[in-house]
Amino acid sequence: MTTTPEGVSLGMPQLPAPDYPDDVRARLEADAREIIARYPDSRSALLPLLHLVQSEEGHVTRTGQRFCAEMLDLTTAEVTAVATFYSMYRRKPSGDYQVGVCTNTLCAVMGGDAIFESLQDHLGVGNGETTGDGKVTLEHIECNAACDFAPVVMVNWEFFDNQTVASAKRLVDDLRAGTQVEPTRGAPLCTFKDTARILAGFPDEREGAVEASGGAGPASLIGLRLAKGETGPARVVHPRGSGAPQDEPPHDPSPSEHLSSHDAPQDTSASDPSHPAGPAAEEGE
Ligand code: FES
Repeated sequence: MTTTPEGVSLGMPQLPAPDYPDDVRARLEADAREIIARYPDSRSALLPLLHLVQSEEGHVTRTGQRFCAEMLDLTTAEVTAVATFYSMYRRKPSGDYQVGVCTNTLCAVMGGDAIFESLQDHLGVGNGETTGDGKVTLEHIECNAACDFAPVVMVNWEFFDNQTVASAKRLVDDLRAGTQVEPTRGAPLCTFKDTARILAGFPDEREGAVEASGGAGPASLIGLRLAKGETGPARVVHPRGSGAPQDEPPHDPSPSEHLSSHDAPQDTSASDPSHPAGPAAEEGE
C-alpha cells in the first residue's frame, strides 16, 4: 500500500506493480511476441495477452497487467479497463476448476437457480468463492448460448448440459476428488490455467481435443437454417395462409440430416439424461 512520509496508509496499491522473475518474463515475452505478430495493430492483442498472463498465475494480477501494458505500449489504466470489463478474466486467486452455473432466465427457471443454491450449500462457498482445497471456484454466470440444453453448468468454459441438482453435486465431487469427468460436448476438460493458455491462442495439443469441439444444438440453429433457405426442422410451423402445405406429415430428418446428430449431448457421468429438461430438484424430494 502507498503510505505518507509519516507512514500512514492511503489505501492505494503500490505502483508500479512488481515485475515477473527474469525467467518467467523471458518465457512470457516470447509467447507474447508470437501473439502480437498475428495482429496488424499490436493493441488488438490485449485480450489474448490477458489470457496469457492468466495462464501463468491463474488470474490477472497487477504484474500481469503491467506486463501487458509494457508489451503493447498501453497504459496500465487502459489494460485494467479491459481486464475489469470482461468476466472471463479473474481478478483474484481461484480454483483449478471454475464451476459456472448459468442463472440467466431460461436456465434459472429450468433449474439453474436450484443448482446454484444447492452447490453453495454443498461446497460451503458463496458466489465467486473457492473451496478450501483450492479445487473449485463457484460462480453464477450469464447465458452461454446453450439455452436448448438448459440448465447448463460450465466448467472452465466446457459445457455440462441438462444438469440437475444431483448431477451437479456429483460433478463437483468428482472434480474435487480428481476423478476424470467428461464434458457433454466439446474438448476434454483441463485446468483453468491450461484453458487460459488455449484461449490465448496456443494450440490445444491434446489428442482428439480439436476434433471433439461441439457445436450449438438444433433449437439454436433453426434461425440459421431458415436464413440459409434450408428446410426447417419438424417443429417449425408454417404461418397460416402462407401457402405451405398444412396436411403434409412432419418432416422427419434422417440421422445424417439431423442437426444434432453429432453435436447433441452425450450421456456422460456428469449429465443426467433422465432429467433432460425438467426443473431441477434434490433427488428424493
Ligand atoms: S440461459 Fe443458460 S445458456 Fe442461455
